[in-house]
Amino acid sequence: MNLTVNNPLWLAPLAGVTVPSVRRFFWRLGAGLTHTEMISAVGVIRGNRKTAGMLKILPGEGPVVLQLFAPGVRSLVEGAEKALEISSDINKTQFAALGVNMACPMPKVTKRGAGAALMNAPDTAFEMVKELKKLSFPVWIKTRRSEGERPESLSRTLRFAHMLLEAGADNICIHGRSPAQRYEGKADKEIVRALAALFPSQVSSSGDVYTPEDVLEYMGMGCVGVMLARGAVANPFLFQNSLLTLGLSAPFEPCERDDTFDARVELLLKLSGELKDECGERLAVVLLKRLLAGVLKGFRKSSEARRAVGVVTDFDEAMRILRSFADRPF
Ligand SMILES: Cc1cc2nc3c(=O)[nH]c(=O)nc-3n(C[C@H](O)[C@H](O)[C@H](O)COP(=O)(O)O)c2cc1C
Repeated sequence: MNLTVNNPLWLAPLAGVTVPSVRRFFWRLGAGLTHTEMISAVGVIRGNRKTAGMLKILPGEGPVVLQLFAPGVRSLVEGAEKALEISSDINKTQFAALGVNMACPMPKVTKRGAGAALMNAPDTAFEMVKELKKLSFPVWIKTRRSEGERPESLSRTLRFAHMLLEAGADNICIHGRSPAQRYEGKADKEIVRALAALFPSQVSSSGDVYTPEDVLEYMGMGCVGVMLARGAVANPFLFQNSLLTLGLSAPFEPCERDDTFDARVELLLKLSGELKDECGERLAVVLLKRLLAGVLKGFRKSSEARRAVGVVTDFDEAMRILRSFADRPF
């Protein structure tokens, strides 16, 4: 993978979620590495202000993979060059690797030839990796299993991964769902197992990671890393719990096993303040609502708190409600 990480549990790229404050939140909770959400290389080239804002790395963040999506080699490389330039200007630290999204199944991305469409354009995918490598950063590819039943799906996925590695990719993350499955149905873990066995230290995994046992299963296959996605949003403590299950040291913030409701509320208040500073009150409330249930899960007051914050759109009101729950005796 060609870079140094604290541990093999990584926060997957999640569009609309893995903004810098959320990444730092998960870093503090034990993620060994995080990803930006997928960023349009064309948007970077055009100087789109919102896109440039997505290139921020906050002080205190761990290694971050910059994930780009692009329809062609030139736009990808130009976008990557410009993104690295902007990042040098605005960040105290640089991205740990350049990621390319060859996985997104959504038509607004694939109809332009980006995301999962690249699985059907192996020559372009090959050139993308080869050219990107010239920027002297590790190149990480995120892709999916190919369409069809096994063994066709396996052999096509294998050929694609092999070709990307030949081009110089440093890490290939396989999401065990095909593009047609989008985010439904089960991820095919056996395809990931076969690839991890064939390409040791070069394959990481994504798909259906909800418990420490899921993490353990992927690690047992020989994956160099496991990406936590919806499972981490549903339970941000999945990092800590999985680290402990793997016998690795778990970090800094209060641990799920011995903390209190108030400590969890404090965690949310801190995150909300950081989100507000970074991306404004509206988005801060949206992201708070996405993470609140998982952070407060397991306490008697949690569903009531979730419902109460769920109907609020005003930031200050959301903060007031959260604090009021911490103050209540039961
Ligand atoms: C809301 C959402 C946004 C996502 N955004 C991205 C993205 O920007 N780039 C990417 O490579 N994958 C993206 N994914 C896919 C996830 O990284 C992950 O591979 C997928 O959710 C499968 O893992 P899971 O079953 O454990 O959730 C996204 C998934 C979701 C649900």
